[in-house]
Amino acid sequence: MLAETKKLDVLIVGGGMITADLLLPSLYYLQRTGVVHSIDICALNVFPLKALKESRELLEAFPGQDFAPHPALNEDPGKNFPELSKRVVTAMAPGNMVVVAVPDNLHYEVVMHALRHDQNVLCVKPLVLEYDQAVEIENLAAQQGRFVGVEYHKRFDRRSLIARRAYRRAQFGSFVMGEAKLIEPYYYRHSNFQNWFTCDRTDPFTYIGCHYVDLVYFITGLKPTEVSVQGVKGRFSNGNEAFLWSQARVTWENGALLSVINGLGYPDAAAGSNDQGLVMYCEGNDQTGLIFHDDHNRGVAYSYLEGIGPGGSKYNYASPDFFRLVPWEGPGCKPVGYGYDSVAGITMAVHRLEQTAAGLGPQAALAKRREILREIDAQGLIATAANSHINELVIEAGRMSILQDAAPVRIVYTKRPHVELRRR
Ligand SMILES: NC(=O)c1ccc[n+]([C@@H]2O[C@H](COP(=O)([O-])OP(=O)(O)OC[C@H]3O[C@@H](n4cnc5c(N)ncnc54)[C@H](O)[C@@H]3O)[C@@H](O)[C@H]2O)c1
Repeated sequence: MLAETKKLDVLIVGGGMITADLLLPSLYYLQRTGVVHSIDICALNVFPLKALKESRELLEAFPGQDFAPHPALNEDPGKNFPELSKRVVTAMAPGNMVVVAVPDNLHYEVVMHALRHDQNVLCVKPLVLEYDQAVEIENLAAQQGRFVGVEYHKRFDRRSLIARRAYRRAQFGSFVMGEAKLIEPYYYRHSNFQNWFTCDRTDPFTYIGCHYVDLVYFITGLKPTEVSVQGVKGRFSNGNEAFLWSQARVTWENGALLSVINGLGYPDAAAGSNDQGLVMYCEGNDQTGLIFHDDHNRGVAYSYLEGIGPGGSKYNYASPDFFRLVPWEGPGCKPVGYGYDSVAGITMAVHRLEQTAAGLGPQAALAKRREILREIDAQGLIATAANSHINELVIEAGRMSILQDAAPVRIVYTKRPHVELRRR
């Protein structure tokens, strides 16, 4: 007879776009397949929770599946509950999973609270905005023997995995010059972003540039050593000022250079949903190597009868690779793509951790979980609190630079890595 498997109770903190588009459908599928037990979602107020409950796409794809909302849907719609998620986490049994999907500047507090209450964590990127905070998270996770996975889903794109393997086998040579872009749609400017995407908190490089910096690190293993970011400011319709565009230059430990352009401005009318891609030139033995990823047009174009595409467009480059709900052999739909693979990879890692340690005494269980954590950290496929510090260092350097008109900021890898302004 098969041993009873432990299923995970999952709490998602944050009910916005990433929860609707990726996290909830992925977790519903993992619930359908027996990895996840219950799903709770906590948001700042009832609005996003109602939208998730009423989503036709989710109802059709996952018939009979549901989540428990916090606050309850009959609460006053005008009331905010900024502290509620803490109480919900505190009530969870140890060894389950908290999914952190709140705005970037709130990640640290939610992740630390979850760890203090003995939960594993899946955190959307970026983990936190400062290196010291990442180290605190790493230390607490190691102490508790709990897993913190950072959801950098581009790592799970097959093209990234293929490039990593080939690069590590020296099939391209040494990365020397590259450019990356990720321009999100204009319509983001009309969303909840207006409330948090402000100059004092974040910018396009921090928000999305980090994906491609992480990817170059993931493919090559090289560490970034200097960052300079110039921003272009504008205003949302609610009057809040934001960096709407950014251009960054990242220098790597071998002297390689990467330009990164980012923005909230891909035309709604264009064939999006956004514009993105990566080009990396490499030096070889009397020749050069090249990695070219067109992440925008992946070879599928649809022209709909109605304007049902992103931004209300009719003609679209539809990516079959990131996240799609497709028919399968059972009821509703199933998710496919690297977005799902990434959420599933992290959730399965948590599941394995808890399953392997189940039935052991407290000390043996802790030792077992720590052993598995070390193995996942060393493998380097899933970004963890312990193995992806370069991202926090780059973000910290990027924020320092953009707030000082593109001043070059060095990343210094001493025993205690830190960032510092370079004298021009
Ligand atoms: N490509 C990616 O990996 C990707 C894409 C989109 C977003 N993200 C990340 O996901 C996070 C959220 O982004 P989004 O686009 O969903 O934003 P959003 O503005 O659509 O949603 C934010 C959600 O957080 C909730 N929230 C805010 N304060 C809260 C609190 N104190 N307690 C509980 N809930 C609270 C709000 O109710 C809202 O539902 C950000 O960190 C962002 O960088 C990652």
